[in-house]
Amino acid sequence: MDLLQVDQEKCLKCGICVECCPSCILTMGENGPECHFDRGCMSCGHCVAVCPAGALDNKYTPLEKQRPVTMPVLSADTAYEFLRMRRSVRVFKDAVPSEEEITRLLDICRYAPTAGNSQGMYYIVIRDKEKIKAIADAVADWMDEEVAAGTENKRYFMTVLRAYRERGQDIIARQAPVLVFALARRLNVTGVSNAEQCWAYAELFAPTIGLGTTIAGFIQSCGIAGYQPLLDLINIPPKHKVVGTLMLGYPKYKFKRMPERQHLKVDFQ
Ligand SMILES: Cc1cc2nc3c(=O)[nH]c(=O)nc-3n(C[C@H](O)[C@H](O)[C@H](O)COP(=O)(O)O)c2cc1C
Repeated sequence: MDLLQVDQEKCLKCGICVECCPSCILTMGENGPECHFDRGCMSCGHCVAVCPAGALDNKYTPLEKQRPVTMPVLSADTAYEFLRMRRSVRVFKDAVPSEEEITRLLDICRYAPTAGNSQGMYYIVIRDKEKIKAIADAVADWMDEEVAAGTENKRYFMTVLRAYRERGQDIIARQAPVLVFALARRLNVTGVSNAEQCWAYAELFAPTIGLGTTIAGFIQSCGIAGYQPLLDLINIPPKHKVVGTLMLGYPKYKFKRMPERQHLKVDFQ
C-alpha cells in the first residue's frame, strides 16, 4: 500500500499538506500531493489532519482514526490562568491513586511533542512504599559517591544529604505514594527531552483529575546517570534506559495564591 492515498475528486491541490510536512518529503503533482521518500515519513499525521477537503489519507495515520478539532477549547485568558496555576506538589495524602487514575494521567502524555515524533515512552509505576524508600536511599548513596568523586554539584548534594540523612526529611522522594519512571530505548538520544515534554503534559493535566505531581529531579538524575543500585530496584525492560521520574499523589494542601515570577526577558532582533 502506498504511503499516501489522494482522493482526486476532493483534492484542491492547495499545497497545504506539502507546506506542513515536517520532513519536506511531499511536492504537489498534477494529481495531488506526491511523496518522494516514504521512509522519511515520521507518522505525525499533519498532512491528513491539515487537509481542508479531507482528501488525503496516510497509511501510518489513517484519516478514519483522526478526530475533528473543536476550537477554541479555552479562551486565551482562561488558558493563561490555567497555565499559571500549575504548581509542583510535594506534600501528598497517604492514599494511593488508582491504576485507572495514573493511566489516565499518563495517557495524555502520548500527545506531548517528541523529537522526530519518536514517541515510544514507556512508564514504570512504583506504588510500593518500601520500594520508594529504597529508591530514595539509593539516590542518597549515589549522591554520597558523587560528592566523594568531587562532582560539580558537590555542595548542593551535601545540602540534600544533610536534610535526608541528618534531619530525616525526604527531600528526594517527598514521601510520594507514587513514582513514575519514564523509559526510552537506549539508542534514543532525545529520550530525556521527550520525557520533559511528557512531564509538562502530566503536570498540567494532573490537577484536572485531582492529582498532584513534581518532577523528581534527584531520582531522575541518578537514573539517567545509570546508577546500577537504583536500576536494580526497578524492572527495566531490555534495551531501555531511565529518562525521567515524576512524583505523584493526591495533593494534601491547596495553593491559595500564585507567586510572581521573574520578569520576561526578551530581545526581538
Ligand atoms: C528538571 C526539574 C527537576 C526538578 N526536580 C525537583 C526535585 O527533585 N524535587 C522537588 O521538590 N522539585 C523539583 N522540581 C520542581 C521545581 O523545584 C519547581 O518547578 C520550581 O520550584 C517552581 O515551582 P512550581 O513548579 O510550583 O511552579 C524540578 C523541576 C524541574 C523542571
